[in-house]
Amino acid sequence: MRFRPAPVGVSPMDDKFALIRTHVAGLPALELARQFGTPVFVYDAAVILQRLSDLRQFDVVRYAQKACSSLAVLDLLRRHGALVDAVSAGEVLRALAAGYQPTGDPPPIVYTADIFDRHALELCCQQQIHVNCGSLDMIEQFGRQSPGGHITVRINPGFGHGHSRKTNTGGPHSKHGIWHEQIAESLQLAAKHRLTITGVHMHIGSGTDLEHLAQVCGAMEQAAGQIGPQVYTISAGGGLPIPYRQDQQYVDLGAYFQLWDATRQRLEQRWGHPVRLEIEPGRYIVAESGWLLAEIRAVKRQADNIFYLLDAGFNNLARPILYGAYHPMAIVPADGNTSRKMQEVIVGGPLCESGDIFTQEEGGFVTRRLLPQAGVGDLLAIGCAGAYGFVMGSNYNSKPLAAEVMVYNGRAELIRRRQSFDEMIIGETIPRWD
Ligand code: LLP
Repeated sequence: MRFRPAPVGVSPMDDKFALIRTHVAGLPALELARQFGTPVFVYDAAVILQRLSDLRQFDVVRYAQKACSSLAVLDLLRRHGALVDAVSAGEVLRALAAGYQPTGDPPPIVYTADIFDRHALELCCQQQIHVNCGSLDMIEQFGRQSPGGHITVRINPGFGHGHSRKTNTGGPHSKHGIWHEQIAESLQLAAKHRLTITGVHMHIGSGTDLEHLAQVCGAMEQAAGQIGPQVYTISAGGGLPIPYRQDQQYVDLGAYFQLWDATRQRLEQRWGHPVRLEIEPGRYIVAESGWLLAEIRAVKRQADNIFYLLDAGFNNLARPILYGAYHPMAIVPADGNTSRKMQEVIVGGPLCESGDIFTQEEGGFVTRRLLPQAGVGDLLAIGCAGAYGFVMGSNYNSKPLAAEVMVYNGRAELIRRRQSFDEMIIGETIPRWD
């Protein structure tokens, strides 16, 4: 793939674990909050491009847009050589709206899912979007409507692993992928509709580790071997972790690539033709680029506990309440004074629900975090919020969706304005009952 280099002069390696900070994405955070309001997601384009470029050894980096599907992010990645994955009709339409072509070799957009809803099936057939089937029913429905083409299959290798049970996408308890013992059936079904299976895809989970990711190579070789020399593409899926805590490590990407490259080469030797190696990360590309900037609106003491209550809640960032996910946090002092005493606090949001706490562990156990003393008007910046942040936001408690800003070469641009009340109720009607 062709990559354009990241813009120069911007350091993506800003210390994301600092507990007090004045800048996010290289710009003054107070200024960003004044200009765009809070809560606001701020994405540093340089970090996204750095992460994309980390993966340039792979033939195709297919961005899993479920992590952050804003048009400006898709456009940035498209212009720098990434292709895109879509899991719904909406994500296919987003990719098209961001300038991706519907067809090409390799396919610019791949629809990977376990079902087609009726809209997605219609759209994929009509736009000739490449489909990666995660169920026998998908093969059957696609084949019936659009016989004679190429498809790929997502295989569940019989095992999986993720940062949480909820992000493990392999094994017998996972709904994802075609079970590895049903490859022969997949081939028969494809043949019935004159479909050729030209690729195999495996994604065992999100936020996993090298040990588990490495196991996939063997399973891939076996599955691809069973399908045969008609296979021209193998996809390692996504799942690359990022450090959310200071003691966590990046995966050794060089070693990871070597494992997959060796698998690819063995298949090439077996079949005597080239095999394209794809990777499909979401989190790795965007997580570290994103900050959720919120304002502290109340500081409460409940017995021994101090609470910082923000204007952002799980309507903006659901990962803590869903998975007990840990995100780095920093105070942005409104007075610019960066020498403040530290204290243990609980950080929560504005929602009328006791689980609206950013400092919690899986199972809903509230934890304390050591942060600088802060008051109303100070900002709190939540880091590593670029992946599965905005996209999992909601209108719970009739809170508008947050604004999004992208910083590129030192310039901040609004890429999504804050949702208005009118936009929130658009489409609602009150029937005339009498
Ligand atoms: N490919 C497929 C088929 C997937 O299902 C996923 C993620 C990815 C790629 C990208 O995985 P990544 O590289 O981002 O780990 N909401 C959860 C993550 C759910 C991931 C779902 N599928 C979270 O916030 O951790």
